[in-house]
Amino acid sequence: MELTFGDIQETALIPLAIKASETSRPDARIRDVKAKEIIDTLGVDVSRYDPFLSHEGVVARTLMFRRKIKELLKKYPDAVCVNLGCGFDDKFSQVDNGRLQWFDVDLPDQIEVRRKVYKDRERCTMLDGSALDGEWTKQLPKAKVSIIIMEGVLEYFKKEQVKTCLNMLCDSFEHGYLLAELHSPFLEKHGKHHDAVKHTNATFGWGTKSGAEYIPLEPRMRLVSEQSYNDEMKKYSIRAKLFAIIGKNMNNRLAVFRW
Ligand SMILES: C[S@@+](CC[C@H](N)C(=O)[O-])C[C@H]1O[C@@H](n2cnc3c(N)ncnc32)[C@H](O)[C@@H]1O
Repeated sequence: MELTFGDIQETALIPLAIKASETSRPDARIRDVKAKEIIDTLGVDVSRYDPFLSHEGVVARTLMFRRKIKELLKKYPDAVCVNLGCGFDDKFSQVDNGRLQWFDVDLPDQIEVRRKVYKDRERCTMLDGSALDGEWTKQLPKAKVSIIIMEGVLEYFKKEQVKTCLNMLCDSFEHGYLLAELHSPFLEKHGKHHDAVKHTNATFGWGTKSGAEYIPLEPRMRLVSEQSYNDEMKKYSIRAKLFAIIGKNMNNRLAVFRW
């Protein structure tokens, strides 16, 4: 199958490859049978997208995002959830509580490829849309609380684009939570050495030391919590434990904002 992706869209193959390879392991920490099926259907060679640190990072973030979303859904079971920059991710089936309404949103060329491997499901709909323009949000039902998930997306935005995105979210959703992956200034500077992203044409955008740096860009938001992926990664191997010491402030984080 002939696939054409933009530079950032291509990065969606990295978590896809990692989730599929983790699923094949006898001691898999996450099981994502859909990821394996997508790779087979698309017939893409993803072998270069699965180095150790990225592998551990994607496993960690998958577990951490899943836990946070489930925690919020206990409080807001009827939330509208948006996986913004969804790529090939199948979070809906990991967290569905039978009540939430889910939207998988990405750029049109990414959604076109996604439609080859997913169908819309009950309460789970795919939409063309950009994190930099809120036009698509008009199609969503009104909800008291919306949960916006941006896993591996803001990393590629310049500071001005992060601001556009945060402003768009606060303008479009009355009350909400943003669960976002943030990265460090170190990665912004040295991204060309990143073990998986170096195999794509994508470059890292604005890195921060803390999610608090987002607030001046969108003062309606509050930072609720922030946790390094190291906290999860170090549970599983000595190499990751060492990385957590040497690269204490270098790893990506899951930050939760609310407004
Ligand atoms: C590294 S992938 C992450 C995919 C998915 N969130 C995951 O964790 O598996 C980055 C995704 O961001 C999407 N993306 C890039 N720019 C975007 C934008 N302006 N609006 C929405 N999505 C965007 C890409 O198309 C791609 O699917």
